[in-house]
Amino acid sequence: MYLRNTCRIIFQYRYNAVLLLLVSTVILVHYNYSKLVFVQYVLRNTATIGNNETSTSFHSSTSSWSESSSVWKTWTSPLTDSQSQKNDTNSTLNAFIKTTTVLNLLKISSDNQRVTVGPKGIPDKPRFQKVNDHDAWLFSAFFDNFNNTDLIRVFGIQPLLLNTSVFCHLVEGTSTYVIEGTKKDLFDWHRNRRRVFSYECLLNETSRPHNVSLTFNETDTPTNNLLVLYPQALQRNFTVCYSMLYNYNTPYQLVQNVEFNRVLGAEHFFLYRESVSSAVDTVLKHYQRQGFLTVIEWPIPVGEIHYHGQILSLNDCVYRNRGVSRYVVIQDTDEFIIPHQNDNWTELMEVLNKEFELSNKSQSEQLGTYIVQSTFYQQSPNSSEWADITGNFSISDEEFKMFKKFSLTVFSNLKRLKTFFVGGRQKSFVRPETVLFNDIHTPDKNRPCIANVTVSTDVAVVHHHRRWTSSADYNLDTTSLKFKDRVLPLINETILLLTL
Ligand SMILES: *[C@@H]1O[C@H](CO)[C@@H](O)[C@H](O)[C@H]1NC(C)=O
Ligand SMILES: *[C@@H]1O[C@H](CO)[C@@H](O)[C@H](O)[C@H]1NC(C)=O
Ligand SMILES: *[C@@H]1O[C@H](CO)[C@@H](O)[C@H](O)[C@H]1NC(C)=O
Ligand SMILES: *[C@@H]1O[C@H](CO)[C@@H](O)[C@H](O)[C@H]1NC(C)=O
Ligand SMILES: *[C@@H]1O[C@H](CO)[C@@H](O)[C@H](O)[C@H]1NC(C)=O
Ligand SMILES: *[C@@H]1O[C@H](CO)[C@@H](O)[C@H](O)[C@H]1NC(C)=O
Ligand SMILES: *[C@@H]1O[C@H](CO)[C@@H](O)[C@H](O)[C@H]1NC(C)=O
Ligand SMILES: *[C@@H]1O[C@H](CO)[C@@H](O)[C@H](O)[C@H]1NC(C)=O
Ligand SMILES: *[C@@H]1O[C@H](CO)[C@@H](O)[C@H](O)[C@H]1NC(C)=O
Ligand SMILES: *[C@@H]1O[C@H](CO)[C@@H](O)[C@H](O)[C@H]1NC(C)=O
Ligand SMILES: *[C@@H]1O[C@H](CO)[C@@H](O)[C@H](O)[C@H]1NC(C)=O
Ligand SMILES: *[C@@H]1O[C@H](CO)[C@@H](O)[C@H](O)[C@H]1NC(C)=O
Repeated sequence: MYLRNTCRIIFQYRYNAVLLLLVSTVILVHYNYSKLVFVQYVLRNTATIGNNETSTSFHSSTSSWSESSSVWKTWTSPLTDSQSQKNDTNSTLNAFIKTTTVLNLLKISSDNQRVTVGPKGIPDKPRFQKVNDHDAWLFSAFFDNFNNTDLIRVFGIQPLLLNTSVFCHLVEGTSTYVIEGTKKDLFDWHRNRRRVFSYECLLNETSRPHNVSLTFNETDTPTNNLLVLYPQALQRNFTVCYSMLYNYNTPYQLVQNVEFNRVLGAEHFFLYRESVSSAVDTVLKHYQRQGFLTVIEWPIPVGEIHYHGQILSLNDCVYRNRGVSRYVVIQDTDEFIIPHQNDNWTELMEVLNKEFELSNKSQSEQLGTYIVQSTFYQQSPNSSEWADITGNFSISDEEFKMFKKFSLTVFSNLKRLKTFFVGGRQKSFVRPETVLFNDIHTPDKNRPCIANVTVSTDVAVVHHHRRWTSSADYNLDTTSLKFKDRVLPLINETILLLTL
């Protein structure tokens, strides 16, 4: 069954699980535009995505990277923090509210030069806040626009079956007004009891609230108070969203990943810290001091939610970067999104954008997400293969020892599975303004008339460095070594500096 008007389909929310199942196998349009890039408009296919393989937690680290003495640092819930209302916050906010022009997030010019507005430098330490005595926790709030209507969107966690009304207590200057809102659960393949929710309250055109509290009963006195984040002006091209680190104890893996990404073009990193070892903490502090890492504390207050609320952290990261970053790169610390024909992500995007423009002559759609396909890199070449490789890439003995000593698998595990994962495990370059809700791998729901583009594996591949017992065939892929001379000195420097 082919439907011509993809925009109309994409426009609709698909929260109804039954509807979702019905449409899941319908492939709407499938064009082959060129060798480099093919554009797919595919409704989610449960048969391929909801398989056994993806339901495995992909954060489990390989034993080779484990730190022998792991001291866990846990963060106690900061809910007891007393909240002091700061008057200077009020005046800063008033200043920005006056200068705020009407946003239209749906109109993004093709050259991405969107003029935006919003408060700058307002401190924001998001934390989980409870909704009265309900089993519901809120994390962050964003000003948004959907279907030409301004709205406040709050992300939180609650049981799927907790059926209540939603009321937004909006603070604007000295006045507070209450409006009734709606809520939607974000899709969860793992069907946990608790889900991530988006609570939405529609605004009048001139409304620019700076804080919001949610209650489930209009007359309740709010027990939470969230700063509303507005889209900011463009600051950078690439921001990496690492989602959430839980029991994370592999500092060399982190250094390897961050330094590789910086060479590829990453300008800033977001990371949600649930629990990490002290050595990892040292690395985080180092990068925070350098100014390119934002660590958001993630003391998740409840269980029975998929992977410690990871989906919430990802969506938080995407929304935080609206306007700020042209692309957010959603990946894990054991994944490397490596261009196979270009030197860095900037060049890669230029190639992909050109292809997209050619394929989208009618400009009926805007680019939303480039989806990069993934496979496992898990074996080291044998000694005769290494003899060739060390010659071809001028790998010194010292460098080779360093690969082994610090488990720099991106340079040593060059044998990858021949096949790519279909329907799951991909990673993405996301234009944050185009996505409504993001999944771990790809967008879950886009805004109207936004295209996902699947990138050919000739052009870029997610090198997923993870042990995976399989008898499948391997290919030797030495692409990562093209980056060795740029990446290795940085890894070396950081490791020496930290005396890890
Ligand atoms: C999932 O994996 C289990 C154990 O490996 C297996 O018994 C089951 O058949 C698999 N289910 C599907 C749908 O592949
Ligand atoms: C804020 O201003 C009000 C009124 O001017 C004052 O009573 C209050 O103490 C101030 N609060 C802080 C935290 O400075
Ligand atoms: C968009 O807004 C129009 C008019 O305000 C309304 O009729 C329509 O139902 C809305 N569509 C969605 C998807 O919310
Ligand atoms: C939720 O409650 C409302 C009214 O209280 C009711 O109309 C609705 O059917 C309920 N929904 C579910 C899924 O229970
Ligand atoms: C906050 O801003 C409003 C103007 O929107 C002003 O009337 C009020 O006095 C300010 N409050 C404080 C405590 O500064
Ligand atoms: C929007 O405007 C209407 C009419 O002026 C008013 O009744 C309503 O309270 C306003 N809502 C908000 C959220 O400001
Ligand atoms: C809201 O609170 C009031 C006062 O406590 C109570 O009478 C009412 O039943 C509550 N409504 C709901 C839907 O819980
Ligand atoms: C807005 O919310 C933030 C975060 O909870 C808080 O720090 C700030 O004091 C609040 N401001 C107002 C005016 O309520
Ligand atoms: C961001 O990308 C644009 C367009 O490709 C480029 O002109 C600009 O130099 C890039 N900025 C940085 C900091 O790399
Ligand atoms: C990307 O690679 C090209 C070609 O090597 C180079 O000219 C450009 O400066 C690089 N850009 C960044 C941001 O590294
Ligand atoms: C690492 O840095 C040290 C100190 O600058 C240097 O002696 C060593 O050769 C470097 N190792 C590699 C593999 O580059
Ligand atoms: C692409 O975007 C559509 C529209 O939001 C979404 O439903 C679909 O799941 C996405 N496709 C993939 C493969 O992620």
